[in-house]
Amino acid sequence: MLTSPQVDLIQTSFATALSTRQTLVLEFYERLFTKAPSVRSMFADDMSAQSGKLAAILQLAVQKLDTLETLVEPLRALGVKHAEYGAITAHYTAVAETLVECLEDAVGPTWTQDHAQAWSDALTFIAQTMLDGAAATSDKTVLTQ
Ligand code: HEM
Repeated sequence: MLTSPQVDLIQTSFATALSTRQTLVLEFYERLFTKAPSVRSMFADDMSAQSGKLAAILQLAVQKLDTLETLVEPLRALGVKHAEYGAITAHYTAVAETLVECLEDAVGPTWTQDHAQAWSDALTFIAQTMLDGAAATSDKTVLTQ
């Protein structure tokens, strides 16, 4: 679903963003909590451990973009956990928008509309796979009731 030039755009822009902003993920959460204050209470007060986990999964996803199918099962399982945390579709939209804004700021003037589109396509795939995993589990719950 991602073209090879899109994979390149994501991998190079992510490397640039991380090299210019060590605190990229912490900034992401600050911005997310401003945009969607209701999600703040879902997280611990100290966001350092959580930030490390998000950075690690993003790094893994960015590395594996050309074999995204290998991420389907882990992402579906992560989606089940997220349904338990209370994450809903609107939260995923806020997360994706916020992350793209942070990346744009961190990358600076070389950022293009193609970067935004490539990231948005990748994040839509990640979010949809997580939501599919959560929906499949909730269907099973209904069936066993
Ligand atoms: C691109 C989509 C997302 C990715 C890749 C992602 C990734 C992660 C990862 C890797 C963890 C750690 C899981 C663990 O400890 O095993 C986590 C935890 C969490 N995520 Fe997400 N997440 C995403 C979207 C969301 C959304 C939309 C919400 C809703 C606001 C959310 C809320 C949470 C919460 C509340 C936790 C648990 C925090 C805690 O234990 O204190 N995430 N996420």
